[in-house]
Amino acid sequence: MSAVLERVKKNTTDLPKKVAGELETGSLSRLLRRETWSEHEKAENSPFEVALVRGNISREAYTDLLAQVYPVYCALEERAGALRDDPIAGHVIVDDLNRKPFLEEDLAYYAGDTWRSIELLPVTREYVDRVRTVPPLRYVAHHYNRYLADLSGGLMIRDGLKKAWNLNGEGLRYYEFPGIPDPTAFKDAYRGTLDELPLSVAQKLELIEEVMVAYEFNIEMVRALGERHLGA
Ligand code: HEM
Repeated sequence: MSAVLERVKKNTTDLPKKVAGELETGSLSRLLRRETWSEHEKAENSPFEVALVRGNISREAYTDLLAQVYPVYCALEERAGALRDDPIAGHVIVDDLNRKPFLEEDLAYYAGDTWRSIELLPVTREYVDRVRTVPPLRYVAHHYNRYLADLSGGLMIRDGLKKAWNLNGEGLRYYEFPGIPDPTAFKDAYRGTLDELPLSVAQKLELIEEVMVAYEFNIEMVRALGERHLGA
């Protein structure tokens, strides 16, 4: 088992005992958020993310981040096509979320064609493989983790970079959601969709566990990027 999955296993041992009762009657989206928020804090407070929000990062480092998340979105969005009619995952799939063409534009803006030869981190490869192969229920966890992040912290990162680099839209397409004019309303509706999914308690636990997996991949990715670019 990989280091990422081992960490999740260790962190979720007590989860069933802790939340099984609440999962029968409580809101899944609220529990999901509560139980994974310490992971969020680890991601948010990593040196690379802190530098990013402050715009205190090189273009090379930022391009590397985009190049690492790009194949993750390719996997998410390829599978979205296949899972459109899935009785569980089908509920969260919305074309307006798709990031692939926006990321391609930003990558070309910062690096021309050279971005295609940026080396993927081992964690990126593992993350992509996981997104490609998990069952549809667990796919929802990865979908939630990336897209709600983009519609939350992503918008703060956009503001940080815009100010630091004096950008005027170009290079920040990743954070543009032309079909989602109100991110807060969208996120509320998304959480409502999660709450309505026809899931057993065991399935809800599985979903929470997979969100932990998604966070751990992201934490490891930004840790490795910090090491590569910030020496942190
Ligand atoms: C690898 C990095 C990150 C990941 C994977 C991530 C993921 C997420 C996810 C999944 C949510 C939705 C939680 C929910 O409401 O159920 C969220 C919310 C949020 N994130 Fe992040 N995040 C990351 C980095 C950041 C950073 C750097 C910031 C701050 C600058 C940030 C600020 C926020 C805020 C304020 C919310 C709450 C938004 C709301 O309630 O609507 N995040 N994030």
